[in-house]
Amino acid sequence: GDAFIAHPINLHHKHQDFTLLQEVPDSYTWTQSDDYPSGDSVISESVPVIDLNHPNALQLIGHACKTWGVFQVINHNIPIKLLDNIECVSRSLFSLPIQQKLKAARSPHGVSGYGFARISSHFSKLMWSEGFTVLGSPLEHFCKLWPQDYSKYSNVIEDYEKEMKILAGSFMWLMLGSLGISKEDIKWAGPKGDFKEDRGALQLNYYPACPDPERAMGLAAHTDSTLLTILYQNCTSGLQVLKDGVGWVTVPPVHGALVVNVGDLLHMLSNGSYPSVLHRAMVNRTQDRISVAYLYGPPNGVQISPLPKLVGPCQTPLYRPVTWSEYLSTKAKHFDKALLYVKTCA
Ligand code: SIN
Ligand code: FE2
Repeated sequence: GDAFIAHPINLHHKHQDFTLLQEVPDSYTWTQSDDYPSGDSVISESVPVIDLNHPNALQLIGHACKTWGVFQVINHNIPIKLLDNIECVSRSLFSLPIQQKLKAARSPHGVSGYGFARISSHFSKLMWSEGFTVLGSPLEHFCKLWPQDYSKYSNVIEDYEKEMKILAGSFMWLMLGSLGISKEDIKWAGPKGDFKEDRGALQLNYYPACPDPERAMGLAAHTDSTLLTILYQNCTSGLQVLKDGVGWVTVPPVHGALVVNVGDLLHMLSNGSYPSVLHRAMVNRTQDRISVAYLYGPPNGVQISPLPKLVGPCQTPLYRPVTWSEYLSTKAKHFDKALLYVKTCA
């Protein structure tokens, strides 16, 4: 799992017990120029909600990926009970006393564990959120968080990851299928085409209610360094995506739905046909919010480059081949310009 290279943590910042804050401290106060690009959220257009049982699901997904880089899905076959359970585990984790959570703190160059949002080091202001990353088994950390009943929590995580991995594999075929890509076009999908070797990590996010939500930022604008990300959000809204020519659009929680977004690696694999979507999370005065992201990517060592079928006969591929870990290093250095750094010179 060395593909998940951590961003250096802001060690000079103390972890915060948000429940003690009556107002937003300076270190957490964002002005428009701290984030990019600025702009108000509008609701004139909305992210497609796609029923996977719809006869035209493939076309609808393809269209959503081209025009939005994100869609919501219903009838995805993940039991509601499992979504409830992952939300409960996240809530239990973040409700622990700060001293307890810090026992599972992410180490300075590690990936797994509790801490600030992993993109924090790219911004000068702190975000109004806490995160917990699970890469591989959660047991090491969960034993410290819940010495008595850690297995009940880690079982939920394992079930959830197992289901997400299968679902992510099906989304790969749906998303690529609508571009005319079939199983023989992707060698690393394996003989059964089930992407068995692909990898994933789970990112639990908690956004406490905030006394001054206009001046705070839950999670700053970013694209995901994944092939695709599957996001569960609880019933509080906060996720926004940037739509070309429109601005920031809120992705409203739909009961039982999952949000699927195109990541930078699928952007490259599709030779830019599917743009990775810029997104951020806003906070709320009265309600806290929970989200769980499944970050999905290719096996170790596999080079991602534009699929030949998607590059015209007289064209040069837009991106040069990179492995997931190479791309993560580029992202750690250049952040929002990472895709430019992997462009071919043509
Ligand atoms: C994320 O981008 O990882 C999370 C976004 C959200 O909380 O909605
Ligand atoms: Fe994200």
